[in-house]
Amino acid sequence: MVTPGNFVAAILVFVVLLFPAASSAKTPKSFTFANFHPTQFGSVFDVKGDASISKEALQLTPDTLNNAYNLLNKSGRIMFPVRFKLWEESSYSPTSSNISLNNSSTELDIVASFNSTFLINIYRTSNESGGEGFAFIIAPDLEIPSASFGQWLGLTNATLDGNPSNKIVAIELDTLKQDYDPDDNHMGLDIYSVKSKKTVSLSKFGIEISPVKATNYSVWIQYNGTAKLMEVYMADGNSDKPSSPVLSEKINLKDYVKQYSYMGFSASTGVRAQLNCVLKWELTVEDLPEEKDLKWVMIVVGVVAVALALSGIVVAGFVYYNKRRVVNDPNILGALKSLPGMPKEFRFRELKKATNNFDEKLKLGQGGFGVVYKGLLPQNIHVAVKKFSRDNLKGIDDFLAELTIINRLRHKHLVPLVGWCHKKSLLLLVYDYMPNGSLDSHLFGGSEKTLNWECRYKIIAGVASALHYLHDEFDQRVLHRDLKASNIMLDSNFSARLGDFGLARALDNEKTSYAELEGVPGTMGYVAPECFHMGKATTESDVFGFGAVVLEVVCGKHPCTKIGGFQFLVDWVWTLYREGRILEAVDVSLGEDYDAQQAERLLLLGLACMHPIAGERPKTPNIVQIISGSVPPSVVPHFKPAFVWPATSFSVGSSMLNTAATTPMTSSYYGSEKSEWTPRCESRESYVMKVQ
Ligand SMILES: *[C@@H]1O[C@H](CO)[C@@H](O)[C@H](O)[C@H]1NC(C)=O
Ligand SMILES: *[C@@H]1O[C@H](CO)[C@@H](O)[C@H](O)[C@H]1NC(C)=O
Ligand SMILES: *[C@@H]1O[C@H](CO)[C@@H](O)[C@H](O)[C@H]1NC(C)=O
Ligand SMILES: *[C@@H]1O[C@H](CO)[C@@H](O)[C@H](O)[C@H]1NC(C)=O
Ligand SMILES: *[C@@H]1O[C@H](CO)[C@@H](O)[C@H](O)[C@H]1NC(C)=O
Ligand SMILES: *[C@@H]1O[C@H](CO)[C@@H](O)[C@H](O)[C@H]1NC(C)=O
Ligand SMILES: *[C@@H]1O[C@H](CO)[C@@H](O)[C@H](O)[C@H]1NC(C)=O
Ligand SMILES: *[C@@H]1O[C@H](CO)[C@@H](O)[C@H](O)[C@H]1NC(C)=O
Ligand SMILES: *[C@@H]1O[C@H](CO)[C@@H](O)[C@H](O)[C@H]1NC(C)=O
Repeated sequence: MVTPGNFVAAILVFVVLLFPAASSAKTPKSFTFANFHPTQFGSVFDVKGDASISKEALQLTPDTLNNAYNLLNKSGRIMFPVRFKLWEESSYSPTSSNISLNNSSTELDIVASFNSTFLINIYRTSNESGGEGFAFIIAPDLEIPSASFGQWLGLTNATLDGNPSNKIVAIELDTLKQDYDPDDNHMGLDIYSVKSKKTVSLSKFGIEISPVKATNYSVWIQYNGTAKLMEVYMADGNSDKPSSPVLSEKINLKDYVKQYSYMGFSASTGVRAQLNCVLKWELTVEDLPEEKDLKWVMIVVGVVAVALALSGIVVAGFVYYNKRRVVNDPNILGALKSLPGMPKEFRFRELKKATNNFDEKLKLGQGGFGVVYKGLLPQNIHVAVKKFSRDNLKGIDDFLAELTIINRLRHKHLVPLVGWCHKKSLLLLVYDYMPNGSLDSHLFGGSEKTLNWECRYKIIAGVASALHYLHDEFDQRVLHRDLKASNIMLDSNFSARLGDFGLARALDNEKTSYAELEGVPGTMGYVAPECFHMGKATTESDVFGFGAVVLEVVCGKHPCTKIGGFQFLVDWVWTLYREGRILEAVDVSLGEDYDAQQAERLLLLGLACMHPIAGERPKTPNIVQIISGSVPPSVVPHFKPAFVWPATSFSVGSSMLNTAATTPMTSSYYGSEKSEWTPRCESRESYVMKVQ
């Protein structure tokens, strides 16, 4: 007989068996930088110390032009600000379905493989010896220690060197001999310290790291996380990868680096100087599944197990009301509360006090689903409190959907969630307060100072990277659904933060649709034409909204601006483009104070993103590359193509077509299913399509 106890045990075994599936390999994360551009400063790369991005290279220490006066005693770091998961907590191996109880046997540790391939040009400007060195670095954070010039290579300093809490592993290319070095031209594997664990002299390979004449070298760093083997190849920039590595060493990275680490470069000069340039970089890191996924599998399966066990009891005719009590309890909230890293749960009266009882005067704005108030918590912490009112809220599910997603999103261009509160049917989310308000208030604020060009470019780069994160980098695809200038917040550095995830939902099983949200979210001018037909958001419709924001920022005009005889900004810009005078679209308040090449790149990108045919719009990885300047600007047809429905070049799943066909919409704009898209600017009420 199946007793409830057996049943639960069986389910738990099932959970264990599920693990290999949950941790099965994903496609590796891959980043290619074919060239570098100053606009990547702060947006694509984190630049510290004396480093900069100029002359199409990462300059880890100053280059001659910018700092001819003094190249000595400098150090810098440039890191790619994405945390990579480099190893798995458990020693469980997914391939052998074998659990090791022996942690000295490192073979079973799950460690991410990665490849970092780069082209460097390190040279000295005089016939003296060069110095001091350059390194590829895996580090726990984005900081650079102070006084890390000279022998410390931007890696450590006199106090930190050799300290295991550094959690730094690096491959150094050292050009100045210290007493612990074999010579002034060697490669080394550094663990916590510039005193390398292993060194290899490069002279016998015919390599001079820092010659007088500028010379390109290619370096291939390959780490095999299964074999725990680090191999480094190096050759002249015009040669292919040599057959054998220069340096080869077994190292279990799990023992030395933090589970989540960053990758990048560092370098230093000392009493001798050299230029430390990276010209190209390609980074591929195996994508280990997130811990929380596993916990979620646990929780979800656990809940299912409990539910099934309880139904077993019922079938057996046991304790009837017990089931009702437990199943009706929305105890997933309890499970949420116990998750590590969860934002804080606030008491309702704390937030009531913080917002002065939801004072109208403290109202910051009104989002699609709720009102936002400014709040002041003890210790002078400013927050934005988003209050979901009962009318807007269908129930706890929406809240949970929002919370479980927002909580797990971490990106420097997203507004961070501080905490939440749930009291009866009232729900509140607490976010970081953004002192500079929303982007639209700076573009059309009137009295506000105009955003300069550099700042605008940076904002667009930030939004693009956040969108890329939501669409492609996060473990679950997330749609923003409501991208517009009023949802883009500016932090104290005027760096863009994408906010209002009230409408964001994971794209699971095509369940999400515009119809479900009881109307099309967003504002006219930002909503892609196909949304009105399909009644659902897609990554392509997010890209459309992004395009509208790009044009808005460059032109300084709302997407719905009637201009040049057109209803929409995009049509005017498209016409200027056809007539070869696209730069006339640039915000006149900028005067001559902008970079024409960048402006053209952004305008073309904006048009490409607003292509009426969804399938023709660029994808976010491409958008990020275009903005960083690593690929040429988009190719845009001279005449804006007509929107046709049903789409032909865009494959739409039958379920979506069904949604469109079976969902009655009181859309008065479209007489037939096949029509050119002629959008209009109406008041909000008239374009929100109600779904019966
Ligand atoms: C560089 O640092 C060394 C040692 O700290 C010092 O002796 C030297 O004077 C410094 N040189 C410059 C140009 O700052
Ligand atoms: C489990 O691992 C041990 C040693 O690590 C090995 O001897 C054994 O064959 C493995 N079992 C399976 C089922 O792979
Ligand atoms: C396993 O690792 C822990 C912590 O690193 C250590 O204290 C313990 O001695 C190790 N056990 C074995 C069998 O190596
Ligand atoms: C632990 O692993 C080491 C190295 O693989 C091996 O020599 C040793 O026998 C293992 N010990 C146990 C208890 O499995
Ligand atoms: C690294 O490069 C090697 C050789 O090109 C390749 O076999 C391996 O799959 C790559 N690893 C990753 C994580 O991309
Ligand atoms: C550099 O100095 C070396 C000796 O230190 C000398 O042989 C060589 O000719 C010099 N090269 C140049 C370009 O001055
Ligand atoms: C080394 O760097 C740390 C962190 O920046 C700093 O606190 C410490 O004072 C530095 N040591 C020296 C000798 O400068
Ligand atoms: C080094 O590589 C860069 C970028 O590919 C190239 O522009 C430059 O001409 C190369 N320099 C040499 C000396 O080969
Ligand atoms: C990594 O090492 C394992 C074990 O030695 C080997 O089977 C695998 O092919 C290697 N992977 C790569 C990409 O070389």
